[in-house]
Amino acid sequence: MRDPLRIAVLGSGRGSNFHAILSAMHEGRIPNADVRLVISNNSKAGILELASANGIPAEHLSEKQCGSEEAFVARLLTLLQRHEINFIVLAGYMKRVPRRVIEQFRHRIINIHPALLPKFGGPGMYGTHVHEAVIRYGDRVSGATVHLVDEAYDHGAIVLQKSVAVEPHDTAESLAAKVLKIEHEIYPEAIRMIAEGRA
Ligand code: GRF
Repeated sequence: MRDPLRIAVLGSGRGSNFHAILSAMHEGRIPNADVRLVISNNSKAGILELASANGIPAEHLSEKQCGSEEAFVARLLTLLQRHEINFIVLAGYMKRVPRRVIEQFRHRIINIHPALLPKFGGPGMYGTHVHEAVIRYGDRVSGATVHLVDEAYDHGAIVLQKSVAVEPHDTAESLAAKVLKIEHEIYPEAIRMIAEGRA
């Protein structure tokens, strides 16, 4: 039997992907994995409330609050160690993961991106900017991608992707809603694949 995934989720916002992951876990769809810690750089993030409501330790932690990148990294690594975390899930985390953390968790950090990488990824490609770009370029297909996190934005190996049609009447908002639905399907599925050693 593989080592169970002891997951920390890092997020900055509402946490709908985290919610989808938790629901899948509660329904027994992701055996061999549990979320042990949620961290947000934003003290008001919905993801922290969601964690607390589910009895999961929720920590507000940011570089700003720590005063320097070094102090932030030290505090982050201490927290991860204290909760015996062996896998990190980024769910709407709007900050760059520090290099030392990537090195310590090489191939053990995943992210979800609201487009079909390698298209529409990289610096500046986040949130509504992604969907605006897809529509501007006239692509007929978009989707969501779960990928490993390395030192470059939206660059690591792809774990899972699913596409949606872009209709002529779609706006950035309507496309974002369609893609988010797909995200909620593939993120729990990708974690299940990893927990089962299939990815
Ligand atoms: C998602 O669209 C995800 O692709 C992106 O940030 C958003 C997070 O949404 N990385 P939520 O906080 O999970 O609702």
